[in-house]
Amino acid sequence: MHPDKRLNGYLCALAATVIWAGNFVLARGVAHEIPPIQLNFWRWVLALACILPMALPKLRADWPAVKRHWRYLVFMALVGVSCLNTLIYKAGQTTQSLNMALLVPTAPILIIILLANFVGAGLRTGAGADSSTPEAIEARIHPVAGFELRDASAPRTLRSGEEVYKAVCTTCHGAGVAGAPKTGDAGAWAPRLTTGFDALLHSALKGKGAMPPQGGGDFDDTEIARAVVYLANQGGGKFEEPKAPAPAAQAEAKQ
Ligand code: HEC
Repeated sequence: MHPDKRLNGYLCALAATVIWAGNFVLARGVAHEIPPIQLNFWRWVLALACILPMALPKLRADWPAVKRHWRYLVFMALVGVSCLNTLIYKAGQTTQSLNMALLVPTAPILIIILLANFVGAGLRTGAGADSSTPEAIEARIHPVAGFELRDASAPRTLRSGEEVYKAVCTTCHGAGVAGAPKTGDAGAWAPRLTTGFDALLHSALKGKGAMPPQGGGDFDDTEIARAVVYLANQGGGKFEEPKAPAPAAQAEAKQ
């Protein structure tokens, strides 16, 4: 990732934590002046006013999905936003803000324990049934949270550049359809190679022109990087094939 973007990411994460911490301190401070439900209501009215202008276009685009899953979303809004926060504010009437904030570090631990039990037992119950699978949840939160739910310690054998190329990239690059630079056509690749490997990889990962992200496939970023090397080198590039990253680096490289 570009260093500036990375710094931005860290700063945003830090800001979120600081603002969130402020929530507990403020809630504790006004606990005896504003009743919990009222406090929660106004907090989210304010948040809505701030977020809506940014979120509206995405919300519009995702409206069919929202309509399809409205029951699940209403359930999550009720337990996640309405009940959770109201109860936290209620707690603020009798306990310190530090205790209220303890919820934050314990939540991931509880989630992991519950997830392990839930997945281990193969149960599919609860709100929204199928929409509660880790994959479905991952897909839903991915655009927002920008992280992946993957077992980093699980052994993964990454496919080679050639395998990935044959699985998807050849569809367009093989014959040079839809304006795709043809495989092995040095003339078509030369101007693109000068942009550098990172730029080419970025195009392959995020999509460019008629090319969908990852060429329409679902691969690990390293696999795509290898395919880019394979493809570009046939067109005269001299890039080195990236090694399989260590699990931790792999998770980090996920951006
Ligand atoms: C659906 C067709 C299609 C598939 C599948 C496809 N590409 Fe492409 N690719 C294109 C097109 C079209 C372009 C030219 C885009 C442009 O410059 O507007 C392109 C351009 C590229 C470029 C040059 C990008 C740049 O910045 O100039 C790379 C690298 C690339 N593809 C890699 C891949 C890899 C790797 C795969 C397989 C994982 C793949 N492509 C699969 C259509 C495709």
